[in-house]
Amino acid sequence: MKELQVGIFGLGTVGSGTVDILTNNKEIIQTSTTTPVRVKTVCVKDTSKQRKVNLHGSKLTSDPNDILDDPEIDIVVEVMGGIEYSKSVIEQAFKKGKHVVSANKDLIALYGKELTDMARKHNCHFFFEAAVAGGIPILRALQFSLIGNQIQKIGGIINGSTNYILTRMQVEELSLDKIIDDAKRLGYLEADPSADLEGYDAARKCAILASIAFNNLVTFDQVYVSGINNITLEDIKYAKNLGYTIKLLAIAENTESGIVARVHPCLIPSSHPLAGVMYSFNAVYVICDKLGETMFYGKGAGDLPTGSAVVNDIASIAKNISFNQKPEYGYKILNESRVLSIDEQSFSYYLRLNVQKNLINISDVLNIFDKYKITIKTLDKFEKKQNGNSSLDYIITTGTSLEESFNKAVKEIEDLSSINCKAKIIRIERGL
Ligand code: NAP
Ligand code: HSE
Repeated sequence: MKELQVGIFGLGTVGSGTVDILTNNKEIIQTSTTTPVRVKTVCVKDTSKQRKVNLHGSKLTSDPNDILDDPEIDIVVEVMGGIEYSKSVIEQAFKKGKHVVSANKDLIALYGKELTDMARKHNCHFFFEAAVAGGIPILRALQFSLIGNQIQKIGGIINGSTNYILTRMQVEELSLDKIIDDAKRLGYLEADPSADLEGYDAARKCAILASIAFNNLVTFDQVYVSGINNITLEDIKYAKNLGYTIKLLAIAENTESGIVARVHPCLIPSSHPLAGVMYSFNAVYVICDKLGETMFYGKGAGDLPTGSAVVNDIASIAKNISFNQKPEYGYKILNESRVLSIDEQSFSYYLRLNVQKNLINISDVLNIFDKYKITIKTLDKFEKKQNGNSSLDYIITTGTSLEESFNKAVKEIEDLSSINCKAKIIRIERGL
């Protein structure tokens, strides 16, 4: 029986996990693929580095052509990261008729459609399950397991490091700064932590999820994004008192007026399944018209969880080749709905105003909300003592308002002479 030969670019976290699983679960994999799968060559930057996996005779090289020019290699796995070089490696692989698996969310969020068009042109398979929520098979579920359903809305915790930080803030009452170093040490944060903290990593994954769920191209730059940098312990406590948990959510929704794609901190009811997703775990909550609600939960990062998704893609390709299946692609752009701006969307809000004691007449604030027809659901007042100074935190939750109107109201409130700070605003997610 012909062995399928794999060439892997990258032997870091994900590459090592992939090699480990392909080696140690070889027999299990073969029961599915029927064809044996073997790693022939691994390309890295620095061949002299100590590696944590045994390559069992696979060639280690720093020359990309050892893979790209090898006619025996059927499947190329790109687990290097970065954009331009990885893109060029994948393009060259397609031109040589090689099938491709990638875990590269940054690349797919930007060039997923372009690379899919190229794969289609060269009749190559192209999978990238590990790019969203690591080991959770969510792209495969959206593409293959919910046929017969219209996917209406997705709410995802798809960035493990920020979920880890928010969970520890909530459980241990530590400030964000105190947890960042641990999140770095545990390898949860990207080399540039702002990609996680400012929400960009989740926004890239959100663009991929929305594109595949709705068969409608959504690019990274179309996703509204706001990160967790400004979330404080106080907000977490006030939210808890109101029955909410703060999570960084990626929301994708297919509405009559357009596609919603946004990533930002949200208050969600503490009884919601997503509120119970703790530490570095990921979860994707999907609402469909026939199945109803379903949630996919698991590890969104790390060598073996992410390697598991990469291996599943390799095995799917091997199986498709064995059974002569034509390629099917995640990016099937059949619809052209526009992506809504955040100003066009409506939310309920949590708003915190910190004011000097005795200086504020809260009815001035309420009158402004009234002027904009924004209803007040709850209004609480807490005395706060900090560095010998005493002030008041007003916590207001509102009914639904168009974001644009809400922002105008908040601007007027902040301009009141008695308000000495910017309002803290967090959206409340009600439709999940
Ligand atoms: P990593 O640990 O930094 O490993 C990167 C690997 O790529 C290293 O082995 C490096 O070689 C190799 N490499 C870099 N530039 C290269 C080049 N020009 N030629 C050949 N090899 C090159 O990265 P990672 O965490 O495994 O992530 C890989 C990809 O998976 C990224 O796209 C990432 O976003 C994605 N991903 C990662 C996770 C995760 O949990 N880590 C989860 C989901 C998706 P050397 O070893 O010689 O330096
Ligand atoms: N930094 C990413 C996260 C790694 O925190 O989820 C996995 O994509």
